[in-house]
Order: sequence, then C-alpha cells, then structure tokens
Amino acid sequence: MGIKETAKALEGIGFREIYSMEKLERQKGSQSEDRKRLLEEHFSSFRDCTKCDLHKSRTQVVFGDGDPYSPVVFVGEAPGEDEDIQGRPFVGRAGKYLNKKIEEVLGLKREEVYITNVCKCRPPGNRKPTPVEIRSCFPYLKKEIEIIQPKVICCLGATAGEGILGKKLSITKVRGNVYPYPYDPKIKVLLTYHPAYILRNPAADREFVEDLGKLKDLIG
Ligand code: URA
Repeated sequence: MGIKETAKALEGIGFREIYSMEKLERQKGSQSEDRKRLLEEHFSSFRDCTKCDLHKSRTQVVFGDGDPYSPVVFVGEAPGEDEDIQGRPFVGRAGKYLNKKIEEVLGLKREEVYITNVCKCRPPGNRKPTPVEIRSCFPYLKKEIEIIQPKVICCLGATAGEGILGKKLSITKVRGNVYPYPYDPKIKVLLTYHPAYILRNPAADREFVEDLGKLKDLIG
C-alpha cells in the first residue's frame, strides 16, 4: 500500500488528520516565521525609543536574540560597551562565559536559547539602570516574553530578578529559587548570579553551574 492509501485507510478507522513529515516541517517553519516576524514587528516599534534618558547616550537599542522557540529566556541587566556597539546582548566577556556554561551544562548552543536584557539601552559607564529606566523599558521585555512563551525565565543577577518579579531582592539569598512569573504564573522564574559577578568572584561558578543544572531539569 502506498502512503496515500495508508493515510486513507487510517482515516477510515478514525484518525482525524494524517501529517507527512514534510507537512510537519513546513508547519514548524511557518510557526517559527510567525514568532520571528512578531519579534521583528515588536522591535521596530521601539527602535527609536526616547522614553528615558538612556537614548541620549546609546549607540543603538539592543534587542534580544536567539531562538524564538527556546524553552528558556535568559534575562540580563543592560547592554555594556560591546553590546552597545555590536547591537547584540551578551557579546563581551560575560557573554563568552555565559555561552560556555550554556554549552557545558545545558548542552545547547547560544543560538538555541533566547537572551535579552531588562534594559535595552546601555547606561553610561555601565552603571546599573535606575528604577525609572527599568520601569519604562519593562513593557518591551514583557511583550518579548509574551511572544516567546518560554517555560522558564532565567534571571541573571539581582537587577534582572527585580525587574521580572517587581520587588527588591538579595541575589546571594535567593539564587537557585524558583518563582511564578507574575504576569503568567505558568512560566517559572529561576534566579541566579550575573555572569559578570562570577568573573569577579570565581568561587560563585559552582553555584551558577548548580543553578543551570536546575534550569536543565525545569526545561526537561
Ligand atoms: N551584561 C548584561 O547584563 N547584559 C548584556 O547584554 C551584557 C552584559
């Protein structure tokens, strides 16, 4: 019996729709086009954002990047000098360390996860973004998360955690903890250290690896 006859026979005994691998691949392709297109439209909507003073000193807005179908979204603080120049998040030293750990612990390439920041513009001199800057940028991150619908948001450092959970926290006390995302409680929020902190405090690497191990279990 050929493929068409087999499909017909299966439909005859109650299967509703028979998909060929080709059709599934095409469907997957068009879905990933969808999220990609939605993200591109979203990014175009704030490419020229002037909601806070960071626009005065930035080179460009730094959007998130990676796989829009990733089960995990990593959220950092804000672009640094390298990111501001290149227009991509986590491309400097901290980013290289993060990529290495994602490969080693999760067994994934950077392009297979999604990476973004709470603040999309570089604060001058790499200072921490202010609460006003974080608040004015948050709707952009919220929409990014709505489009991607990850299983887990992994917050890198206190600023990311505070932006996502909307409350003050001490990262050394809460790292490794998991909370529901306030805007969509089925999404889990895992808190861990910022990679730049680990580069300054190499002893924290062990805990970071432990947290990424937890992340691996959460994404399944
Ligand atoms: N630190 C961050 O928090 N984000 C980046 O994109 C780079 C460094």
